[in-house]
Amino acid sequence: MVLTSSKEDPSFPVPSRLLGADAEVKDDNPKGYPRPTPHITSTDEYLTLWKESITQPDVFWSRMAKDLLSWSKPFTQTLAGTLDEGNVRWFADGELNACYNCVDRHALEDPSRVALIYEPDEPNATQRITYGELLADVCRLANVLTIDYGLRRGDTVAIYLPMIPAAVIAMLACARIGCPHTVIFAGFSAGSVADRIHDARSRVLITSNEGRRAGKVIPLKAIADTALESCPTVEHVLVYERSPVPDPLPAGVMTAGRDEFWSTALPRHRPYCPPVPMSAEDPLFLLYTSGSTGLPKGVLHTTGGYLLGAASTVKYVFDVHPGDRFGCTADVGWITGHTYIVYGPLSLGIATTLLESVPTYPTPARYWQLVEEAKLTHFYTAPTAIRSLIRLGEHWPFNSDLSSLRVLGSVGEPINPEAWYWYNDKVGREQCAIVDTYWQTETGSIIISPLPGVTHTKPGSATLPLWGIDVAVLDPQTGAELQGRDVTGVLAIRQPWPSMARSVWKDHARYLSTYLKPYPSYYFTGDGVSRDRDGYYWIRGRVDDVINVSGHRLSTSEIEAALNQHDHVAESAAVGTSDPVTGQCIFAFVTLKDDDVTEQPMAIEVKDLALKVRTMIGPFATPKCILIVQELPKTRSGKIVRRVLRKIVDGEADSLGDLSTVANPEIVPELIKVVGVSD
Ligand code: PRX
Repeated sequence: MVLTSSKEDPSFPVPSRLLGADAEVKDDNPKGYPRPTPHITSTDEYLTLWKESITQPDVFWSRMAKDLLSWSKPFTQTLAGTLDEGNVRWFADGELNACYNCVDRHALEDPSRVALIYEPDEPNATQRITYGELLADVCRLANVLTIDYGLRRGDTVAIYLPMIPAAVIAMLACARIGCPHTVIFAGFSAGSVADRIHDARSRVLITSNEGRRAGKVIPLKAIADTALESCPTVEHVLVYERSPVPDPLPAGVMTAGRDEFWSTALPRHRPYCPPVPMSAEDPLFLLYTSGSTGLPKGVLHTTGGYLLGAASTVKYVFDVHPGDRFGCTADVGWITGHTYIVYGPLSLGIATTLLESVPTYPTPARYWQLVEEAKLTHFYTAPTAIRSLIRLGEHWPFNSDLSSLRVLGSVGEPINPEAWYWYNDKVGREQCAIVDTYWQTETGSIIISPLPGVTHTKPGSATLPLWGIDVAVLDPQTGAELQGRDVTGVLAIRQPWPSMARSVWKDHARYLSTYLKPYPSYYFTGDGVSRDRDGYYWIRGRVDDVINVSGHRLSTSEIEAALNQHDHVAESAAVGTSDPVTGQCIFAFVTLKDDDVTEQPMAIEVKDLALKVRTMIGPFATPKCILIVQELPKTRSGKIVRRVLRKIVDGEADSLGDLSTVANPEIVPELIKVVGVSD
């Protein structure tokens, strides 16, 4: 089945060559609501531009970079370096400041334009912050960081904040003074916070006294204090007062000489600080993400290329126009928040939304009330949120006026047809374009997606590559390119694009070995993919040991490392399996140290094991099921055979495949029995 944009409107021509033979053409704006003319008006225009971006990337991207960004020193070079050598750089002799691009140039034009729509956890308390106000606070904070804390260009700053304007202000202040930020998701526990601060060697941490989520209080400063016990690099902690602080302050809440409150520090400074001109290739931020093995890696993004990817995808994938109001429900602690709450929308000078609460608090109408109240034109969320809302009742979106919406986005995992249709019919009222956007922390911005009003969509497919994205489907074993249509393999990219990550912080070898060496001359995404007979791409999920739970990326090894911290655990193996709401969920198997199996009451063990993961990583990483077993399947050299566990958990025990490499196949029936009982 193929759905498409309006076939009557001459600005949305429908070229039949992209439609399958069974095409069912659907009009997405039957009532003809007024809409701006899309930036790209036809598939032919898309194809012409895409071809130019692949065959003449210099011409294409230099035009885009000049059109979308303000440069303090114009670039004369575009692309240099290759995927083979792992030394890609874009616009390297140009200079710009990301904060200037996201704030100053819009504040200069109209300081009263709304930049941030802040929807606090408490309902009916929406606040708006203008570009003028944003500029003043960003500058005050930039002055605190440089004048009071002595930060210099290149020093890293850790940000551990909830979804409040201070998070955006902090990121932009860092960008203004050339200090790469590393935002740590506010759901991480002390151990994970410490690992990230330690790896980034941050000198300053910006946090808040508390976070609020669905009426619950999260003691962020207390968690940060625990983390800081093992982070000697941190000299200053700036604490935003998210909620009133007790007066007098109990002893020990603030560490003298290290900690100070936001409301004390910022008013000391004037509301202006000049932006530092940065090389396009200077780091803008690090963002830690999980890979197949080891500790999470600090993915490094640079200033010019990343910002260009953010601006160009917001403009074209969401077809944004001046005056639009963008609503992305991600957290600023993840890449989606970086690119589609902060850098993308603000670089184009539109309003962006910060939603501190959850979609169900106080009722499942929360998102839709926000859309109505803020008259959002764009809404971008994850399939897991859509699925959890469907379960709570079809009717909730009907109580709000959602007619301001034009484009609905989905990200993080493939969107299943049921969720797609609900989004399209109940939220979009069949008046909106749906864009299923595929990308990763490492790609910086969306790389495969429909364009609204242009690309005919098929629920479940992210459709076609964006500018500069030269997709290859590779045979996973040989690395040979699978040509033509109707092929399935692994997803790789043939050419560098501006917003691709440039390195892993302090571990360039890991960058090369993870992304560029597995298939020489290609960037390897780690995802499986099919290309169908219309040339559309269908993402098939990770082919490595990365698990995607509610759009949160975790590695099996991180979870196992947390479980192994338990005194009684001998070994553990975590695998991902599909879940109707969260996309995937974690299934963990543990063996206990000798004697423990009989001595420990099982129920207590499992609870304690889950707690270990909660406290080591964060509540979102808790396995859905933990099973204590006698033995794990292993090869003769002692490697755990996760493939067998995955099959058993997926209910495919009758097709376990070749067990000849398993040294202890006799345990398999027992494992099947234990998993069967747990269902
Ligand atoms: O497996 C793909 C999945 O999410 C992974 C990237 O996760 P992360 O770096 O945390 O970034 C998430 C937000 C961009 C990918 O390797 N993924 C992301 N978007 C989609 C997707 N899978 C299918 N369809 C998507 N639209």
